[in-house]
Parts: sequence; structure tokens; C-alpha cells
Amino acid sequence: MSTTEQRVAVVTGAARGIGAATAVRLAAEGRAVAVIDLDEAACKDTVEKITAAGGRAIAVGADVSDEAQVEAAIARVVEELGAPTILVNNAGVLRDNLLFKMSVSDWDTVLNVHLRGSFLMTKAVQKHMVDAGFGRVVNLSSSSALGNRGQANYSAAKAGLQGFTKTLAIELGKFGITANAVAPGFIATDMTAATAARVGMGFEEFKAAAATQIPVARVGEPDDIANAIAFFTGEAAGFVSGQVLYVAGGPLD
Ligand SMILES: NC(=O)c1ccc[n+]([C@@H]2O[C@H](COP(=O)([O-])OP(=O)(O)OC[C@H]3O[C@@H](n4cnc5c(N)ncnc54)[C@H](O)[C@@H]3O)[C@@H](O)[C@H]2O)c1
Repeated sequence: MSTTEQRVAVVTGAARGIGAATAVRLAAEGRAVAVIDLDEAACKDTVEKITAAGGRAIAVGADVSDEAQVEAAIARVVEELGAPTILVNNAGVLRDNLLFKMSVSDWDTVLNVHLRGSFLMTKAVQKHMVDAGFGRVVNLSSSSALGNRGQANYSAAKAGLQGFTKTLAIELGKFGITANAVAPGFIATDMTAATAARVGMGFEEFKAAAATQIPVARVGEPDDIANAIAFFTGEAAGFVSGQVLYVAGGPLD
């Protein structure tokens, strides 16, 4: 591929929240974007935002934890947009509970979406990156990877993604492929709004309480994360690989 050709990016969980902001940001950087989420119709808003701004995007429905759906989704991306060389593994779910109350199904759901989903997507996309001699993988970890009450499943998955990222960096580096993880702190999305509802707090009150614990004295917005992902997926970031960047308004780890 010549460097003037448009690169194709796949962003999972891009119907809303961090994934939607990332899809819009990567399109603004000149990428053609496959907006993937569970429900194709739910991707329409993100796709319309991109096309209204003059970008190229398609909506693709797929469950990232299902091997056949992932393969079909990437085949569609290749057919309709071209071979993908940028992948953002962002799709995610929460099933919070204290360990003694956590069901096996809550454990499996979270591990399947985050870890199995990122594995399946990366496996499906990497061959196109190897062919192109260029690739950028960004996995969404979390500050919860460092441990968080009520999130044994989620913290294990998000810590697992950090190990996965580092191994991808080691295995795929010689093909011009980098792999990095972005680990957000508190970001205002439907995910954190659902957590507020679960603990019986209004979202504004919940965000204000969270902000008191954050050095920059505010919670994050999806664009704060999209910005870090834009850096890692950039043409100039080819010597940055295997890193975990906490984007949390202050130091962590
Ligand atoms: N919001 C935060 O504070 C925060 C903090 C740290 C990490 N993260 C991570 O960032 C990512 C995005 O979070 P968000 O806050 O935007 O969440 P969100 O709940 O607003 O959006 C997640 C999206 O993923 C999609 N999704 C869920 N399961 C899927 C599956 N099996 N296949 C395809 N799509 C699926 C959902 O439909 C949804 O559109 C997640 O990986 C999350 O764990 C979020």
C-alpha cells in the first residue's frame, strides 16, 4: 500500500461511548472506519456523524466473543472498505459483584467479551496487517486492572489485556505492527452511568464524587481516550509498542 492510500480502522463497541468517540476521531484523522457493535442499527449514529463530516464508514453488527461473527464481520470490512490495518478492541461489558455473589456466568461473560473478543478480533485482523507490513492494535484496559472492589471478573480481564498487548508487541513487531493498551480511569459514558444507577446515585452526584479523587479535578470524557488512541494508531507512533498508558487525570500504578 502507498502511504497516500486511506488506511482502514476497525473499532469495536463503537455504537456509543469511548468507541463512538474513537471512530469519529480516527475518521477525522483520515481513516476509513468500520463501526462494529452488537447491533448494526445501533451503529447508525456513529456512521452518520462520520459521513456527515465527509468521512468513510460502515456499520457492522457482530458479537466480538463469537468466532464466526468476528470472521464474517472482518470479511465484510475487507469487501466494503478494504483490508484493515488499525484495530481498536474497545467492546466491553460490566457484571460487577462481590466475589461471593459473582455467578460463573458473570465471570464468563466479562472474560469472553474483553479477552476472548480481543483475541478473536486481533487474530482475524492481523493477517491483513502482516500483508500490509503495517499495523496498529490498541486494546482498552482500565484502571481497574490494578484491582477494584466488586470487579474480580473485569479487573482480571483488563489486567489480562495488558499481558495480551505486550505479547502481541513482541510477536508482531517485526511485521511493522505495534500493540499498545490504553487504560482509562473514570470516563463519563453509559457504562459509568449504569454503575451510578446500580449503587443508587444520580450520575451528576456520582461524577462529582469521582472528581474529588482525580488530580485534574474532573472525570474524563470519551474524547480524552480517543485522543490517546489517535496517538497510538498514528503513522508516527511506530516505535511505541507494548505500552500501557493510564489516561486517568493523574498517576496510577
Ligand atoms: N467508561 C469508563 O469509565 C471506562 C473505564 C475504563 C475502561 N473502559 C473500557 O472502555 C471500553 C468502552 O467503554 P464505554 O464506557 O464506552 O462503555 P459503553 O457501555 O458505553 O459502550 C460499550 C459498547 O460495547 C458494546 N459491546 C458490548 N458487548 C459487545 C460484544 N460482545 N460485541 C460487540 N460489541 C459489544 C456495547 O453494545 C456498547 O455499545 C470498554 O472496554 C470499557 O471496559 C471504560
